[in-house]
Amino acid sequence: MRRRLIVGNWKMHKTATEAAVLVRRLSDLVSEPGQVEVVIAPPFTALHAAARALPASPSFALAAQNLHWEDEGPFTGEVSAPMLKDLGCRYVILGHSERRQLFGEDDEGIQRKIRASLRHGLRPILCVGESLSDHKKGRTETVVTGQLRKGLDGISKDEIRLVTIAYEPVWAIGTGQAASPAQAGAVHETLRGALAKSWGAGAGEQVRILYGGSVTAENAGEFLASSRIDGALVGGACLDPQSFATIIAVAQKTAR
Ligand code: 13P
Repeated sequence: MRRRLIVGNWKMHKTATEAAVLVRRLSDLVSEPGQVEVVIAPPFTALHAAARALPASPSFALAAQNLHWEDEGPFTGEVSAPMLKDLGCRYVILGHSERRQLFGEDDEGIQRKIRASLRHGLRPILCVGESLSDHKKGRTETVVTGQLRKGLDGISKDEIRLVTIAYEPVWAIGTGQAASPAQAGAVHETLRGALAKSWGAGAGEQVRILYGGSVTAENAGEFLASSRIDGALVGGACLDPQSFATIIAVAQKTAR
């Protein structure tokens, strides 16, 4: 059975000092997430402070929002997988649409990052999602399965079990217009089918698929009630400890 996973992507918010305060507030509100795995992804500069403030429970984990595929070298401004691992990260978010759209990331580079993360025992959360124009043209399935196959090209059957997929329709991110649970569920089913086709039925069953895009304390229950949705990748709402704690509580209630 796939364990529920709630990830908070802080994006470019919070200093190290503010991060420690936010994590302490969150841990006061969520003493033990139990059946649910809770992951926070602060900016690089706040990872150390957040790690120190995070409760010492395997149910809480730290993620980075990006990495460089090389371990070290002359890459000014970049951060590598061994550096993140050393800070205590368990996960890394890769291929977020903001990185694809605003920073020119392509599937090939994302695939190199996925390989680097797996080489160092960091679990990648691969984001896929269609633009509004692709959505309107009915190209959602083609786009997301293409991103999935290219991003994970060459990944072995053993490694695929460490991968999490996040379906984040670009038009739903930060807009307040979430996909409907039925629409998200249908895309999740397509992604699960693509995983099974390329890596076998076991992988299709084991890989967790999250929904992201305007998830809030109010609508989280509709997504998490679906057996096709294994958790959420939360942006804006994760910056408010009360809202994020409510989303975690909803995931606990609907845990399988
Ligand atoms: P919002 O929850 O703010 O729409 O952001 C979603 C997201 O991009 C998470 O990675």
